[in-house]
Amino acid sequence: MKKMIFAAALLAAGFAQASAKELTVYSVYEAERLAPIFKPFTDRTGITVNVVVGKSDELIEKLRVEGASTPADLYLDKDIVYLGKAQELDLFQAFSSKTIESKIPAHLIDANKNWLLIFYRARIMVYNSNKVSASELSTYEDLGSDKWKGRLCVRTSANSYNEALGAYFVKHLGAEKTLNLFASWVKNLSVDPIKGDTDVIKAVAAGTCDVGIANSYYLAPLVKADAQYPVKPFFPNQNGIGTHVNGVGIGLTKHTAKTAEATLLLEYLTSKEVQTVVAAGFSQYPSNPEASLSDILVEFGSFKQDSTNLGLIAPHVPKAKALMGQAGYK
Ligand SMILES: [Fe+2]
Repeated sequence: MKKMIFAAALLAAGFAQASAKELTVYSVYEAERLAPIFKPFTDRTGITVNVVVGKSDELIEKLRVEGASTPADLYLDKDIVYLGKAQELDLFQAFSSKTIESKIPAHLIDANKNWLLIFYRARIMVYNSNKVSASELSTYEDLGSDKWKGRLCVRTSANSYNEALGAYFVKHLGAEKTLNLFASWVKNLSVDPIKGDTDVIKAVAAGTCDVGIANSYYLAPLVKADAQYPVKPFFPNQNGIGTHVNGVGIGLTKHTAKTAEATLLLEYLTSKEVQTVVAAGFSQYPSNPEASLSDILVEFGSFKQDSTNLGLIAPHVPKAKALMGQAGYK
């Protein structure tokens, strides 16, 4: 029934007979991972989705060099750092869709409508529940206080997840307080910054440190596989601006001529049915609040997220990177 309604909506929108039969997406995610998402779209519209995979910086460079001759109609990337970079280089065009705006909260849609997040994660605290009680945790800033001396693990600074978190600090606290915050973390580290989010969680599990910071989707599968896993999630800054979120976004390339078909794909991606499946497949939160959360994210509990437009956070990334360097955060 749902499928019929969706097909009817597509017909009503006049896209079932769309002339463009192919869309090309530049993507950081492998085509196999995206196939289950795009196949129903192709089945319903007859528009095939060709996925060109690459690393974020490579794809951005490719888009820049190709200019008006790019075959890409859409660009899909894992976070606001790269979406912001592409935006800075004027590689997007604004989309126009009341459907998208009615389905996705405003802060998850770039202020200039260059991109929207299709799902997102929270940058949470991860703590060893044998050594720390949730009542001892509060804010990202608090991890710099003396009580966490020698007890903190963080990922290396040269990573887009931390760059985006840094941009959130710069936006909300200003440069000086952000510098002090990073310096206070460095002083509390139990070991040198660790290479990956999963390794931070494992260090917390092993007791190398008591608390760390990681994306929610790295913890979800570990907890799912082992209900007794000693690391638990904590959503910071609940009494203030809310936890920092970041997510996977997509937008129309500056030079695509297939704006109607590409917008139709964006609308499809934001529908409740697709969102539920997509977000669960990536262990992340669906951007459409009507879509269902995976069981493990329900278990993590609800939280207050920073509702600042993420398109206004991304431009602070370069400053955040400079401050991390200045603070000696490697
Ligand atoms: Fe990741």
